[in-house]
Amino acid sequence: YFIGVDVGTTSVKILAIDELGKIIKTVTKEYPIYFPQPMWSEQNPEDWWQQTLKGLDELFRGINKAEVKGIGLSGQMHGLVILGEEDEVIRPAILWNDQRTEKECYYLNNIVGKAKISDWTGNIALTGFTAPKILWVRENEPDNFNRIKKIMLPKDYLAYKISGECATDMSDASGTLYLDVKNRKWSNEMLSVLGISIEQLPRLYESFEVIGNIKEDLAERLELPKDVKIVIGGGDQAVAAVGGGIVGENACSVSLGTSGVVFANSEDFVVDNNNRLHSFCNANGKYHVMGVTLAAAASLKWWVENVNESDFDSLLDEAKNVKIDNNIFFLPYLIGERTPHNDPNARGTFIGMNMTTKRKDMTRAILEGVAFSLRDTFEIMRDMGMNIAEITINGGGARSDLWCQIMADVLNVKVNKVNSDDGPAYGAAILATVGYGLFKSVDEACNTFIKITDTIHPREDSVLFYYEKYNKFRKIYPNVKDLFK
Ligand code: XUL
Repeated sequence: YFIGVDVGTTSVKILAIDELGKIIKTVTKEYPIYFPQPMWSEQNPEDWWQQTLKGLDELFRGINKAEVKGIGLSGQMHGLVILGEEDEVIRPAILWNDQRTEKECYYLNNIVGKAKISDWTGNIALTGFTAPKILWVRENEPDNFNRIKKIMLPKDYLAYKISGECATDMSDASGTLYLDVKNRKWSNEMLSVLGISIEQLPRLYESFEVIGNIKEDLAERLELPKDVKIVIGGGDQAVAAVGGGIVGENACSVSLGTSGVVFANSEDFVVDNNNRLHSFCNANGKYHVMGVTLAAAASLKWWVENVNESDFDSLLDEAKNVKIDNNIFFLPYLIGERTPHNDPNARGTFIGMNMTTKRKDMTRAILEGVAFSLRDTFEIMRDMGMNIAEITINGGGARSDLWCQIMADVLNVKVNKVNSDDGPAYGAAILATVGYGLFKSVDEACNTFIKITDTIHPREDSVLFYYEKYNKFRKIYPNVKDLFK
């Protein structure tokens, strides 16, 4: 068996697959997230670890443990985990959706300068990235900063607990803003801007590489063979792409999770001139670009739970029967926005209601608003010359046929579903099969395990309508952005 572990924002998901890629068992364990101040978002790394241990215990009940060959990892990206002299966690992890670093991003992008940062890393500073968080700790918690012995990302902390190796991978390290993405090495220039040294950083691996065996005491505790291989895995986006079979030039996925992501492979390093997309290393040893809308399914959840105190199914059901020729818009920027605006102050906005507007019209506007926001990323990819004719859709939102159809119509592409919707945890298990040597490459493993099960085609009349509506949508943010300040 091969085990995939994905340390997400709400829970850790752990699954076991056999050598044919079939999922044998899945376990999920939740942990809390803390919002100590309005724009802050934190978690305790020890919670990740304790819940992972519990999850592994549960997973291995009823599985022949002697057959476990490898464990692969995946995790929420960008989170800052800092350890001191005794390997103690110095402060709670500052997560990917934390927005406290506006000042630090300003410093990096405008004082150090976007051109330099982009040249060194392939990206510019965004509030969610790790580098500005390090500057924040340096400025606001100097005692904590001075104690730092190790700097890690969320899944690297688990890798350290499981293997004893201080390791990370290229895909996840890309989201730190101190990796030289193009050359796949730490950026000395960025390390000196941040005032940290290479000794504090984990060793870099490709996502499919083995970093060592499971620690002896852990193997004993879990009653596993001593030579279980630990494969470092990667950031959840790149690993979800592995789990969804997104391989080959310009292969593209759209994920409707808490955040929404458009992710496209590239054999070579590519970067948008205006740095509107993230240019990152991919888990297959190549590169990828992606754009992120921060509140995708989160916007729907907000609408269903906070505003309507209702349930997803009934609101989505209503929204099916909406005549789409209206001018009701929703900007899904409930927690600020990354792509393309890079604006932590942006906010959610409804616009265009009249006396006949019903809840179902507004639900529909949310589904469309998220789709338009993802189209913003898609348009940049087209501008970069990436020729994308079909996408694979995944994430919780993809369970809604209505939302999938809206995505097909708004992006005007074929939307595929595949036989695996277990995303990063499944991708992590696939990476473990590659690290173990079952396959020669990640692409080969994906092509063996993952098949298209359903295709949704764009409908011509909706495509034309949404083309116009999208052009109106684009005009809203520039006109309202000053109101958010
Ligand atoms: C990617 C990102 C999010 C988190 C979610 O850049 O910030 O997708 O990785 O877990």
